[in-house]
Amino acid sequence: MSGGAAESRPAGPVAAFAHRAEHFRPSPVRAVFEHAMRPGIVSLAGGNPDTGVLPHEVLAGMTARILSERGPEVLQYGSGAGIARLTGLVCELMALGGAVATPDRIQVTAGSQAGLDLVTKLFCDPGDVVVAEGPTYVGALGVFGSYEVEVQHVDVDEDGVDPEAVAARIDALRTVGRTVKLVYTVPTFHNPTGVTLTEPRRRRLVEVCAQRGVPVLEDDAYGLLGFDRAHRLPSLYSLDPGAVIHLGSFSKIFSPALRLGWIAAEPSVRARLQIAAEAVTIHPSVLSQELAVEYVGSEHWRPALDRAAARYRARCAAMMEALETYMPAGVRWTRPCGGFFTWLDLDPDADHGDLMHRGLEHGVALVPGGACYADGRPSTSLRLAFSAASEAEIAEGVRRVGEMLRDGVRRRAGD
Ligand SMILES: Cc1ncc(COP(=O)(O)O)c(C=O)c1O
Repeated sequence: MSGGAAESRPAGPVAAFAHRAEHFRPSPVRAVFEHAMRPGIVSLAGGNPDTGVLPHEVLAGMTARILSERGPEVLQYGSGAGIARLTGLVCELMALGGAVATPDRIQVTAGSQAGLDLVTKLFCDPGDVVVAEGPTYVGALGVFGSYEVEVQHVDVDEDGVDPEAVAARIDALRTVGRTVKLVYTVPTFHNPTGVTLTEPRRRRLVEVCAQRGVPVLEDDAYGLLGFDRAHRLPSLYSLDPGAVIHLGSFSKIFSPALRLGWIAAEPSVRARLQIAAEAVTIHPSVLSQELAVEYVGSEHWRPALDRAAARYRARCAAMMEALETYMPAGVRWTRPCGGFFTWLDLDPDADHGDLMHRGLEHGVALVPGGACYADGRPSTSLRLAFSAASEAEIAEGVRRVGEMLRDGVRRRAGD
């Protein structure tokens, strides 16, 4: 029998994948990580905390004590929403951003990445639209894609996203029959650009979305890592807790390996999120939660957070200085007030080729800007992280970026 169609069909279990599996894409940032480990490469790619701020010695003692005092309880299954002492602590952390949250609004998750996944799963059907900053967090693109959600980008400037442009985009999408389910934003020390949404824009963004009945999904992974500790803007959640769903993370203020984050949402939403979370992880790790309560709730944490923020401020300053020294004319970059990243806009009319590979050829790992857009457009921008490299590595890495940009750039229109 000659069965052309049957013969061309993939064999084995792959043939039985769900349609949505087509949208599962490897993260371009994680691909850079593999290369960034190579000897001789300076990595300005990953948004990792500096290993020097991870409190491993304090945690060794705490872990031993928790296990010896309450081992059986801590090694047992736990509550689906998270342990009460942690949800209480999360409310205290949220108060630092001006929010009044209560434990019945908190769902603990396995990192804020899992929170992003759960919120998308709860709100979005295939074909729905999420409006997000352009560029946006690469990990969010992976989640939205896997739920077959279309991302519509709205440009970011040095003050963050323009609320009027968000409102206009929602209205335009509705006019052509599209369903906008969420406005996703990283308003504070944005990943990837490092910019922060100004206070008037915060108020207006929450207002225009509430008027249109579109929940704002506020991703606040870096909010407590401002360089000026005295100056903190209100979280979007604090401005309208009924209209905003807030994602928080212990990864950058404590440790990413423990995989702990949270969602703050009104109780009816939180209850549904708990059901969705239980279907995947049953409950968040009890041991991780106990460690967070012990450490973040202890006298160690605030001074350690201040030291971490001071270190990131110094590294950001080193990066700004290196950019002034080594960038060719025409390159522009952001000047962050916190977080881990700066963003470089390159000559938009030049063909920069595959920036990830060109960077590696010059001995530097970076994230090409195109990876931060849902349409995977050619990169005329790039993200550099200053969080995990030393000042000397930052200077050398930026020097190599400068060398790469001078080397081999062709004009698009021909010569
Ligand atoms: C903006 C943003 N959201 C979410 C995450 C995921 O963080 P977590 O480790 O809490 O899952 C990251 C991690 O880099 C991030 O930058």
